[in-house]
Amino acid sequence: MHWSTLIPILLAAPSSALIRFQCAQLVVERLDPLVTPGEIPSPHVHQIVGGNSFNATMAPEKDMPAESTCTTCQFSEDFSNYWTAILYFKARNGTYTRVPQRANGGFEGSTGGGMTVYYMTDPLYDSTPKSKVKAFQPGFRMFVGDINARTKDEAAKFRQLTYTCMSTAGSREHETVAFPQKKCEYGIMTSLRFPTCWDGVNLDSPDHMAHMSYPETGTFESAGPCPASHPVRTSQVMFEVIWDTSKFNNPEDWPENGEQPFVWSFGDKSGYANHGDYVFGWKDDSLQKILDTSCYATSCGGKQQSIADMNKCAGLKKTVDEDIGVNTWLTALPGMHQAESSKEDQSKNQKRERVEFKA
Ligand SMILES: *[C@@H]1O[C@H](CO)[C@@H](O)[C@H](O)[C@H]1NC(C)=O
Ligand SMILES: *[C@@H]1O[C@H](CO)[C@@H](O)[C@H](O)[C@H]1NC(C)=O
Repeated sequence: MHWSTLIPILLAAPSSALIRFQCAQLVVERLDPLVTPGEIPSPHVHQIVGGNSFNATMAPEKDMPAESTCTTCQFSEDFSNYWTAILYFKARNGTYTRVPQRANGGFEGSTGGGMTVYYMTDPLYDSTPKSKVKAFQPGFRMFVGDINARTKDEAAKFRQLTYTCMSTAGSREHETVAFPQKKCEYGIMTSLRFPTCWDGVNLDSPDHMAHMSYPETGTFESAGPCPASHPVRTSQVMFEVIWDTSKFNNPEDWPENGEQPFVWSFGDKSGYANHGDYVFGWKDDSLQKILDTSCYATSCGGKQQSIADMNKCAGLKKTVDEDIGVNTWLTALPGMHQAESSKEDQSKNQKRERVEFKA
């Protein structure tokens, strides 16, 4: 896929809804109300965008549009929360520092870089279909990815959780499932695409994934049909996050053994454990209305706000007060013991961490 060549086609003849917008950073801290609700702090650091009713619990009955006073997203009726882990650079001396984020082209100035969010009714490059999709319902949430995956095989059941090694702001090609193994002059983009078939009944499930499925055959991109177990077609939710690795490109700072130096906040340096979290919180039927329109990006109507207004909502007061390595060097990743952060076999460590946190 190459977005920059597709955009003009879609602008000329919109035939399906492709909602694409920016969200500024709400907060970066160790909270995870989906996987470990109520746990303060959660096992690893996340970057979160969206409505400011976000907190450590987020019960399914929480009325996010009513409890939020603002959102960091461009669509001002979108009080959903979207989050991912954050990236660290590990120096030769074994210490870690947070890799800053940067906004996609056109969204410069959004606080903390944030992320770009998509809701797509149809495959991007297909200009003919006009598929109906059902918007998510209040209380709906989902997760994608496997925090314990450390091999290609373990990551294989997730389609399309990828990295793009960016040489310029427009780089979109050669997506990989592992971290790029070479220098990326502009940054590394993570693209997280969620499954698109819903069971039509459950707003959540114990692993936050079983109520959703990928198409039975093919993919969302190839317009594959939903399986009978998950018959309701939803829009494809996708996040793009750009990690500004540009100041970590000095070969002298990279590991002597030739490995790449970036590691997720939960200790994965393979990249296979790329994952994302979504808690739906659009006001009333504002999402469904847009999905029922033929439109592209920010021409999709709805209520929208400027980047300056999104930024006013950024900077939620932190619940967890700790040094997360912004312009500092940490001896261990927040929430992980030093020995565990630096051991070779991160997958074993992560499993042990999880058991400890659950106990
Ligand atoms: C989160 O917000 C809810 C209201 O939606 C509140 O009842 C709850 O106590 C808050 N939880 C925390 C941990 O602050
Ligand atoms: C570790 O390496 C980083 C990056 O080179 C450097 O800024 C930091 O001061 C070093 N820390 C120690 C304790 O040597």
